Amino acid sequence: MVVIASDHAGFPLKEEIINGYLKEKGIEYIDAGCYSPERYDYALSAQKACDMVIEGKADKAILVCGTGIGISMAANKVKGIRAACCSDYFSAKYTRAHNDANALCMGARVVGAGLAIELVDVFLNTEFEGGRHQTRIDQITAIENGEKVY
Ligand code: RB5
Repeated sequence: MVVIASDHAGFPLKEEIINGYLKEKGIEYIDAGCYSPERYDYALSAQKACDMVIEGKADKAILVCGTGIGISMAANKVKGIRAACCSDYFSAKYTRAHNDANALCMGARVVGAGLAIELVDVFLNTEFEGGRHQTRIDQITAIENGEKVY
């Protein structure tokens, strides 16, 4: 299960990802809003979608705002979320392989629908490699828990 969410700036791209990819591929998804182009702040969407990941209602979140940055900043404040703002294929692939990212953030004013769908596809279909990368994820988690890692 994937949860997808956006602010007003990301709303049109969110709809394109749903209609042009998730539905076509038969991928189960939750649309956590927003549901119109009316102003809706990215922190609300980020927290709502990321809470669903942490609660186990979804495995990964796809988040869209204007730049992808604000929504990624908000997402990364949710404990247990590793959100990556991506606008290229390599980053979307390796943030899964090396960072075990559980949220992909994109900017609707940065990437077009075609590229966004490629990014979602590689993000959802790349496995975490574990091994030495798990050590680094554990360090991130320790920082999140207020521990010193250096
Ligand atoms: C909204 O205008 C815009 O600021 C927001 O979508 C995002 O780009 C912030 O990071």
